[in-house]
Amino acid sequence: MAANRVRVGVIGLGHNGRAWIESYRRQANAEVVAVSDMNRPLAEETAVRYRVPHTYSGPDMVERSDIDLVSIHTPDPFHAEPFVRALEAGKHVVVEKPMADNIEDLHNMVAAARKAKGRKVLVGQVLRFMPFFAQVKEIVDRGELGEIIYAEGDYIHDLRAQSDPARYNPDIGMNWYLEAEQPMVGGGVHPLDLLRWYVGSPIVEVEAMSHRIVFPEMKHDASITALYRFASGAVAKVTALYAAVSPYARANHLALYGTQGTIRGETICRNESRGFEPLPVPWGTGHPYDGEVEHVLDCIINDRPTLVAAVEGARSAAPAILAEEAARLKRAVPVPEF
Ligand SMILES: NC(=O)c1ccc[n+]([C@@H]2O[C@H](COP(=O)([O-])OP(=O)(O)OC[C@H]3O[C@@H](n4cnc5c(N)ncnc54)[C@H](O)[C@@H]3O)[C@@H](O)[C@H]2O)c1
Repeated sequence: MAANRVRVGVIGLGHNGRAWIESYRRQANAEVVAVSDMNRPLAEETAVRYRVPHTYSGPDMVERSDIDLVSIHTPDPFHAEPFVRALEAGKHVVVEKPMADNIEDLHNMVAAARKAKGRKVLVGQVLRFMPFFAQVKEIVDRGELGEIIYAEGDYIHDLRAQSDPARYNPDIGMNWYLEAEQPMVGGGVHPLDLLRWYVGSPIVEVEAMSHRIVFPEMKHDASITALYRFASGAVAKVTALYAAVSPYARANHLALYGTQGTIRGETICRNESRGFEPLPVPWGTGHPYDGEVEHVLDCIINDRPTLVAAVEGARSAAPAILAEEAARLKRAVPVPEF
């Protein structure tokens, strides 16, 4: 690392990867030195657009000696290979959520992170960086809700535009949003990670039901509801639904019921006679990638732990992945420890 300046290589240059390049470019202590995408013309066009000196079409980029941080924005099924290779090459790593879409990859990724002493990992659970959800964490940590005993969160959107034929990617031979995305994993992991953060206890078991009444173009059911049991005994319910008629974000939902207080949406009840009062910070929308970028640069430069290290990312992804199996088997499925 040159004079507190983190040199970054970005892999996966779709909408998400390019948004992260723009966030890195807004930081004085970061420099994007290489980009990689299987689609070589896209990689070259991105390099020209953002004046990045080095272009790759595969994971070899991670071997460059002038890269400190590898930032991974490939589709959900292709996070593990560049993640493990980057850590083995001695790099710090950012990986988008979900950390992986299957349990075997999660185990391999956590093992690689444990071996790579001194290397930072940030899993892109972006909602933790939204002021509204961060405020809820502070309230929970101050003990204002007591012990959380029941929680709800949803990821409910209209994502039917993902069936657009233009989304077919010839380099991977599919439209991965239709063929590979699992709604509880790609979307549900957002609220699930928040609920786990708030409850502060690992998830040990999941039960679920799903159906494909809507958006049957998706290989995986577009509507899934899961119940998660925490080691503390608390229970959470999460729905992922990709075909709702509703404005963005308003269809999402957060509820935390504690022994001393309740948060529902943008309101809090600390006392039955006072009822529900508004929380100071409103819900908000968007993707605060800048907050994630600032955080990971600070953790690398000042050797601080990241908010969502590999074990944290795996503890949120694993129960989300197993929800689909629980729905298929019609029984509770245990969640492995990480
Ligand atoms: N945090 C969030 O809220 C958020 C929002 C959007 C997307 N994401 C995540 O970001 C990731 C990317 O999503 P996207 O919508 O940009 O996808 P995308 O399909 O638009 O872009 C992915 C890019 O990766 C490239 N690619 C695929 N496999 C590759 C490989 N092995 N090596 C190099 N390049 C490869 C593809 O050619 C494509 O250009 C996904 O994991 C997604 O879930 C997170």
